[in-house]
Amino acid sequence: MKREKYGYIYRTHLFGNPTVRVTGAENIRHILLGEYRLVSVQWPSSVRTILGSDTLSNMHGSQHKTKKKAIMRAFSKEALELYIPVIQQEVQTAVKRWLVQDPCVLVYPEMKRLMFRIAMRILLGFQPEQIWTDEQQLVEAFEEMIKNLFSLPIDVPFSGLYRGENGMDLENLNIESLEQLKYTGCVLKETLRINPPVPGGFRVALKTFELNGYQIPKGWNVIYSICDTHDVAEVFPNKEAFQPERFMKKPLADSPRFQYIPFGGGSRMCVGKEFAKVLLKIFLVEVVTKCHWTLLNGPPTMKTGPTVYPVDNLPTKFTSYVKT
Ligand code: HEM
Repeated sequence: MKREKYGYIYRTHLFGNPTVRVTGAENIRHILLGEYRLVSVQWPSSVRTILGSDTLSNMHGSQHKTKKKAIMRAFSKEALELYIPVIQQEVQTAVKRWLVQDPCVLVYPEMKRLMFRIAMRILLGFQPEQIWTDEQQLVEAFEEMIKNLFSLPIDVPFSGLYRGENGMDLENLNIESLEQLKYTGCVLKETLRINPPVPGGFRVALKTFELNGYQIPKGWNVIYSICDTHDVAEVFPNKEAFQPERFMKKPLADSPRFQYIPFGGGSRMCVGKEFAKVLLKIFLVEVVTKCHWTLLNGPPTMKTGPTVYPVDNLPTKFTSYVKT
């Protein structure tokens, strides 16, 4: 691996441009908190062209700030509360279908479809029947657009989850009950630690500056690596092991920030963070309380391109879980 050979900051090439790749909490801190001062977001030109300059991720300065504030309102606690029944309904419908699907379900494409439906209903205000009619074409058109660009892969944790925390009512979820699902929250955190879906972020140096003894010239691209930063984080001993319990402990007061950054940080922090967490929790609750499942190929090989996904599409057999 390049990082082991060259260290936490090294020069590489991205789409033919000189680029510096940065890893490690302390270095990342400078990049994420240096937005507008040292660096500025700059996605590769293909992304900028396809998404356009009017999307939040391509906006800058005060325009970015104002728009971000407005979008964040759509993900406030009150707003999220209203989305929960819609998310739960979509997830339940999908899981019911998976339980009768033979011989198996390809979970990765199915999850993309499910996430797409939820996004259509919540973010675009579609009615369920409107999506059923055109779903296939819409999904295909959308996939065409985001091919190799941006998607939301979500891992299904392997096993060993607690099925129901302290006899809670998991049929009628709300923000409060979701917040009480502490262990489920830790499972999600651990999943996003081991396989952060967005492996890193793109910046450009606004001026020549020094980072930990290395000079980064003005105009060079900077990539900050989320997956490598998680990999070298000292706060996670036994890093290869899937141990949700590690998040049950209170973090040490002096443990440096930016060791765990699945949603980025600073002024470019993900706007969909709370929405994604709510959605993933609801999904986990539904799958764990209703299904047994077997990954037909065993634990998947994950690949990055550009987001993280299971190479085999995750063929899985679901059967109904009956409480004993
Ligand atoms: C598990 C799910 C998700 C992960 C891991 C994730 C990760 C990230 C990361 C790492 C960034 C920062 C990129 C950077 O520093 O340049 C980001 C930004 C962003 N995310 Fe997410 N995201 C997720 C879900 C979502 C969802 C559901 C939405 C929308 C509904 C969303 C919308 C955005 C937007 C608009 C930005 C750009 C923010 C800005 O430039 O100010 N994300 N996301």
